[in-house]
Amino acid sequence: MKMIEQIQNVAVIGTGTMGPGIAQIFSQSGLKVILYDIKVEQLEKATQTIQNNLKTFVGTGSITSKEAEETRQRITTTSNLKEAAQAADFVLEAVPEVLDIKKSVFSELDRLCPPDVILATNTSGLSITEIAKATQFPQRVVGMHWWNPPIIIPAIEVIKGELTGEETVNITKALVTKIKKIPILVQKDVPGFLGNRMQYALMREAIALLNEGVASAEDIDMMIKAGIGFKFPVMGPLETIDMAGLDIFYRVSQYLYGKLDASPSPPAIVKEKVERNELGLKSGKGFYDYKDVNIQSLMAERIKKLLIILREIKM
Ligand SMILES: NC(=O)c1ccc[n+]([C@@H]2O[C@H](COP(=O)([O-])OP(=O)(O)OC[C@H]3O[C@@H](n4cnc5c(N)ncnc54)[C@H](O)[C@@H]3O)[C@@H](O)[C@H]2O)c1
Repeated sequence: MKMIEQIQNVAVIGTGTMGPGIAQIFSQSGLKVILYDIKVEQLEKATQTIQNNLKTFVGTGSITSKEAEETRQRITTTSNLKEAAQAADFVLEAVPEVLDIKKSVFSELDRLCPPDVILATNTSGLSITEIAKATQFPQRVVGMHWWNPPIIIPAIEVIKGELTGEETVNITKALVTKIKKIPILVQKDVPGFLGNRMQYALMREAIALLNEGVASAEDIDMMIKAGIGFKFPVMGPLETIDMAGLDIFYRVSQYLYGKLDASPSPPAIVKEKVERNELGLKSGKGFYDYKDVNIQSLMAERIKKLLIILREIKM
């Protein structure tokens, strides 16, 4: 595999929600990035998104305007997969979360990229092993799972599939460190990896509590934002148990575990909302109503607050 020092050019395949931010972070660390998408309009949108986000970064003092301009200049776009693949020392795929699409993209990339180029997938929880089976060189296929918004969230899961080589894992971890993010090694290719398993457990309980009328959506969210979630950047769940005492945790678990939501399928309330096109921010209504909300300002405000926290805690 190409060594970390040899990785100077990165290709990002698919520029929807995640691709542009991922490209920006690679570029901010001095790497050249080539963005590819099957839709030209997505490439144009990505360029605009990157421009807007760089403006927010400069506005909050996270980077200088010179750094923003250099970051922008290191990113190019193409609608030719061969061009993207051949320019790359490392490839990150961020196409839709559909196994067949991922497999066909990996089979193409495997054909176009020399075998010493790592092919990473940003899948949220599909099997890395299954994706790797679409290639001739499965030892170079690895999970590199960024979190949304990728320009902010420090953690990136590096997932070892059953066929992933040790060297592939180590170089990918080194790349995560190089771009000033925090690598989290997931040693087993389990569905949802680490982050989504824990996040979905929390979301399942939040929806069940809302459904049972235990609290309003606002209070459920505030319980996390101002309560248990407030300490998350400083203390994880296991550190929290250590702080509380395992004896206390054990006693509470004895009466609480059996009462927690354990439904094996998605909740009916979510299915109904999806059928009514209540998809959240993107359709103007989800658990909340965004009819009179300026979504761009809302997201810019959230990013600004997260950037301030990130800078203060120096993670
Ligand atoms: N959205 C999130 O919050 C989030 C967070 C973490 C990880 N992910 C994962 O990242 C990946 C991408 O998610 P997203 O939300 O950015 O998706 P998206 O649907 O917003 O964007 C996907 C992009 O891929 C393009 N595309 C489709 N087929 C393609 C192909 N064959 N070749 C190249 N490009 C193609 C589409 O035109 C689109 O621009 C998924 O695996 C998803 O699970 C998403």
